[in-house]
Amino acid sequence: MKTNITTKFAGLTLKSPIIIGASGITGDTKHFKTFEENGAGAIVLKSIFEEEIIFEFNSFMKEAEEYGYDNEFLDYFDYKLKQDNITKYIDLIKAAKQEVDIPIIASVNCVSTHEWAYFTKKIEEAGADALELNIFILPSDLTKSCTDMEKTYFEIVEKVKAQINIPVVVKMSYYFSNLGKMIIDLSEKADGLVLFNRFYNPDIDIKEKKIVNAKIFSTPDEILTPLRWVGISYGRVKSSLAATTGIHDGNGLIKMILAGADAVEIVSTIYKNGPKVIKEMIKDLENYMADNGYETIEDMKGVASKQKAKNPAMYERAQFMRYFGDFDEDIV
Ligand SMILES: Cc1cc2nc3c(=O)[nH]c(=O)nc-3n(C[C@H](O)[C@H](O)[C@H](O)COP(=O)(O)O)c2cc1C
Repeated sequence: MKTNITTKFAGLTLKSPIIIGASGITGDTKHFKTFEENGAGAIVLKSIFEEEIIFEFNSFMKEAEEYGYDNEFLDYFDYKLKQDNITKYIDLIKAAKQEVDIPIIASVNCVSTHEWAYFTKKIEEAGADALELNIFILPSDLTKSCTDMEKTYFEIVEKVKAQINIPVVVKMSYYFSNLGKMIIDLSEKADGLVLFNRFYNPDIDIKEKKIVNAKIFSTPDEILTPLRWVGISYGRVKSSLAATTGIHDGNGLIKMILAGADAVEIVSTIYKNGPKVIKEMIKDLENYMADNGYETIEDMKGVASKQKAKNPAMYERAQFMRYFGDFDEDIV
């Protein structure tokens, strides 16, 4: 049986559902050709960070106070600093577009509506095929209500969409008190959603008694949280859906499409297994489609979603009801 793994995500046509996610390996174009040759459907560039710009500016301001620069110079420096960052990022987009034919998705890491929205026009002009907004406001401000926090997400999307015409994708986290509603509401504003970003977490080195970064790469069992929410969201969202976190192999890819994803974004498995993993995942997907009589991604998508599965209640189950009683049996 001949299978066709073309998919649509946020208005883009992708030759395969595998997108290389934003990370260090997409911060330059060194591996882009190899990603494309192995079958990647698109590449998300490393994010340009809103806080990076603010941080650089703040440290300059400190110095400026010490040496007493005048306001005019400060204005110029602020402008120049931003221009430099933009220029580097614009050059990356242009280089990426030269290097490969697959869509290039730029990415902005943002937490507020200030300062950076004007970048996006330049991103579009440089030829990016879409823009992914990696929005994350850590809900650790104990004085802010969840309504205030959530409002910022919508304001960011609205502000950016007012600047550009290319598709806008939101890569979101699951730190929301009413996650399902947030997914649905954001899907009405954005062209695509990516469920869910994975963050650096703090860990503690008990020997040194200091805070360190936890593992930066995911493991395949981390697939389960995005899997649940892709499955619940399929058929309910207005935008496209991509899944990310914990997708390391063909099985992960197949599960996400069965749950209802249009595409997946992978990073850790590329670092661990190299770009050849893209080809292997595609082979597994094609074999699975042929074995199960799916000619296209559309035929296969969402078959095991909450909307279409025979036992949708599984998506709602969160407690280990049956296992509490005989828990001891599992302890060796
Ligand atoms: C080294 C590294 C750098 C990353 N940089 C970014 C980034 O700049 N922007 C972003 O949105 N996500 C970034 N991520 C998150 C990934 O795009 C991805 O969402 C996450 O790693 C989960 O996918 P995975 O399980 O396939 O690794 C980064 C991840 C890693 C490991």
